[in-house]
Amino acid sequence: STPHHYRIASIPADGIGIEVVSAAIEVVEKLSKVLGVFTIEFTHIPWGTEYYKQNGRYVSADVLDTLRGYDASLFGSVGAPDVPDHISLWGLLLAIRGPLQLYANVRPVRVFPGTTPYLRGAEAKDIDWLLVRENSEGEYAGHGGTSHIDQPWETATEVAIFTRVGIERIMRFAFEAAQRRPRKLLTVVTKSNSMRNGLVLWDKIAAEVSKDFPDVKWDKMLVDAMTIRMVTNPKSLDTIVGTNLHMDILSDLAAALAGSIGIAPSSNLDPTRKNPSLFEPVHGSAFDITGKGIANPIATFWSAAEMLDWLGEPGAAKYLITALENVCAAGITTPDLGGNSTTKGVTDAVIKEIEKLH
Ligand code: NAI
Ligand code: MG
Repeated sequence: STPHHYRIASIPADGIGIEVVSAAIEVVEKLSKVLGVFTIEFTHIPWGTEYYKQNGRYVSADVLDTLRGYDASLFGSVGAPDVPDHISLWGLLLAIRGPLQLYANVRPVRVFPGTTPYLRGAEAKDIDWLLVRENSEGEYAGHGGTSHIDQPWETATEVAIFTRVGIERIMRFAFEAAQRRPRKLLTVVTKSNSMRNGLVLWDKIAAEVSKDFPDVKWDKMLVDAMTIRMVTNPKSLDTIVGTNLHMDILSDLAAALAGSIGIAPSSNLDPTRKNPSLFEPVHGSAFDITGKGIANPIATFWSAAEMLDWLGEPGAAKYLITALENVCAAGITTPDLGGNSTTKGVTDAVIKEIEKLH
């Protein structure tokens, strides 16, 4: 049969995003050539802070139609030292996630072979989590306002929005994800003791949806206690679901516990597949290391593997992840993982490993 062809929008944007996305394109193109089971074409889209400085906006006016012309997007990071972070984030990433209804943000977390997790004594088998973050509403819904600017009584509100539709669809997605994993274990994170409206609704809907998944074991945690459990009893966790803000924070913690934010991938999915999904490393622009050539590209490689899996190439995805694991196991890592290699060094090693594996 003829290999499937995929068209990908590449949006490196800012900072180390530019360095890691170009490395990922190199790796995926090599994978495509070596395996011969799919072909792939990346189209560069120049949105980001440079674009903003020239055009007064982070994305073009037809942003959604543009992205709908591709099978998926591979995104780097948005944010620059000389633009306020809320302008850049809302200008680009949040201008895509909400309107395209990429409501499930999925973040697998594992300890890679040969790396040292921050969690003392933890081994690969102790941390194998799937974090599911509600990605379209909640605390990041953008509801709020500011009044009496610069007065002593200056006032701002940030209103969290929780809807039955929004909670139910992410809950169902999380139960399905847990059901597909060997342990069939789901932890629902809220803070429904102090947030007595929206997060009580989360608990209520979790209980309702759970009835459709009798084979999934589930429990509830308050987010503060969850940080303790992640550190003291990581083995007790498998799939985890929570709100936009809570999982934003917990996924950074999870990535650090398992090794480094430099390997953490994420998928922004429209599970209905009406809109193309977006794949990106969890990390940001990392101004402190931009241009030094030492950004860890693994998070973006792993994100690209998640993209291939989503597009219908699970074999290629697995192949790429094996190559990443072997390169880490061989000790070829960037400084964030304790090694002394570079972005290019790791990229070249992954490419060699892909050739060797075949
Ligand atoms: P950050 O993730 O950029 O950096 C946090 C720390 O992790 C830094 O010490 C950095 O050097 C390190 N780090 C991150 N990625 C790494 C990698 N691949 N390899 C090695 N080390 C890595 O978070 P920060 O500093 O809070 O944000 C910087 C900028 O990025 C801000 O403008 C922020 O708004 C933006 N940002 C954008 C995101 C996105 O586009 N999805 C996500 C997070 C932050
Ligand atoms: Mg974050």
